[in-house]
Amino acid sequence: MQSWLVLHNGWVVHRGFKRSTATGDGNPIPPGPLFRFPFLPKYPERILHRWTKQYGSIYSVWMGNQLFVVMNDPEVARDLLVIHGANFSSRWSYFMKNQTILQGGAITATPYNETWRKHRRIANTILAPKAIKRYHSTLQYEAHMLVRSLYYGTQNGTIPVNPARYAGRYVLNNMLSVTFATRIGSVTDPLIKKTLSLGDEFMMLTGPWSNAIDFIKPLQWMPTRIRSRGRKLHQDFLDVYGAMILLVKKRMESGEDAPDCLVKSLLKSQEEEELSWTDICMLATAFATGGSHSTSGTIQWFLAFMPSHPEIQAKAHEELDCMVGRDRLPTLNDEMRLPYVRAIIKEVLRCRAPFWMATPHCSDNDFVYKGMYIPVNTVMILNCYSLHHNEERYPEPFTFNPDRFADDNLSSTESSKLSNAMERDHWAFGAGRRICPGMPIAENEIFLAVSRLLWAFSIQIVPGKPPCLEEYEGNSGRTPLPFKVMLVPRHENVEAILTTNGEIPDLRV
Ligand code: HEM
Repeated sequence: MQSWLVLHNGWVVHRGFKRSTATGDGNPIPPGPLFRFPFLPKYPERILHRWTKQYGSIYSVWMGNQLFVVMNDPEVARDLLVIHGANFSSRWSYFMKNQTILQGGAITATPYNETWRKHRRIANTILAPKAIKRYHSTLQYEAHMLVRSLYYGTQNGTIPVNPARYAGRYVLNNMLSVTFATRIGSVTDPLIKKTLSLGDEFMMLTGPWSNAIDFIKPLQWMPTRIRSRGRKLHQDFLDVYGAMILLVKKRMESGEDAPDCLVKSLLKSQEEEELSWTDICMLATAFATGGSHSTSGTIQWFLAFMPSHPEIQAKAHEELDCMVGRDRLPTLNDEMRLPYVRAIIKEVLRCRAPFWMATPHCSDNDFVYKGMYIPVNTVMILNCYSLHHNEERYPEPFTFNPDRFADDNLSSTESSKLSNAMERDHWAFGAGRRICPGMPIAENEIFLAVSRLLWAFSIQIVPGKPPCLEEYEGNSGRTPLPFKVMLVPRHENVEAILTTNGEIPDLRV
């Protein structure tokens, strides 16, 4: 019989003290809070960070009957997720995310098994640094369209603009090209609204700590609203992305030379790889949803930070004027010559990683780490919030300061392979064998958007309405609360360069 207690601060916790768990020879589970929790309130990273200060580099938390181990230190993260990755690369079967919405698919919800290996290999062939070179011209085209449509949206810097839909369409179009070889013309197209709202719903429903239904089994048998929302979202993914897959299939069957894309590869190898219809839909979902929301969120956070940092913009403008000039937009070839722009991006990802808890891993076997017992099927949390606010690694961690990355010449993809975990730039893309396979393309997309927005505009505050930097939307992936900025063209060449080249009239919003 479960017995729950409501504390004065509104928390509901289990009455019983934490079950003492230890190996036969007395190694206890890592230290941690005494109570069991059915969920953690909004902004769980703040609570986890307090516990980091109390319990240190690794601690344990009970959610209902499920044990979580939280890793707060680069060395612990590297030891467990990288060096002992063979044991810490599975996924726990969350009721909402893994069982109901993704139904064990989309790579991210698949346990560490042969199916995961197969699906991950397929994703890697599309997303590896060499493979994505074929999409460079698409990414550059879409980045041009992003900046141009914002230029029109803000009416030459005279009216404030909410960048959410523009950033959403930019990353969605990149992912639609990679996944379905298609794109959406106008930011007002209903498909933009639909796909972005599916992404938002996914991020609301899949917080690693937010759903009591994940941790209290009897709730899973009841017809609750949250369970219906999860089932509906699964069906929506099948319907929306299934329809796009059918369009690719039709083009292939008609003998048309359909352009290369993820879905074309999946359909061609469907039999050989033994892929079900749900597998294909869920893989397409992983790209279209997983790949869009986080990248768009990062671009939005960048735009939210800039108005309060004119001195940082001035430094970036100087670098762009010197290395690129004002006669053309920056391209991916300029990336290594723009270290300050790259440092701004790393600082945005450090300060506002889209997933503060990465995506939880899970242990496949009992394990003893430095005298602490981690049982089989423990959920392993990479606590990016504490890792990114480690004062030793990032002095004054709550200050937005790109200069801390001044000597960092590596991409995040390269940095994630450093043997000294303390030197890694940040942990926003996770760690170990499940590290984000979309990291190289996400880095390309963010670089193009950020460098071109800085090249074109002075990003200014709407008087009296600064973007909120503390609160956010989403329980797993986070995006800023809706905000507006002024985007004032920086020089006389902006209009000419944005409005020529690849004119597409219906982008004028
Ligand atoms: C700023 C952009 C992005 C961020 C911050 C991000 C972050 C993450 C994180 C934290 C994980 C979990 C890693 C782990 O388990 O240790 C992940 C996994 C994943 N990401 Fe990304 N991601 C981004 C963009 C993308 C893109 C563009 C794609 C696809 C094109 C993508 C596809 C995936 C997939 C399929 C997984 C599951 C991997 C697995 O479970 O093996 N992500 N991402």
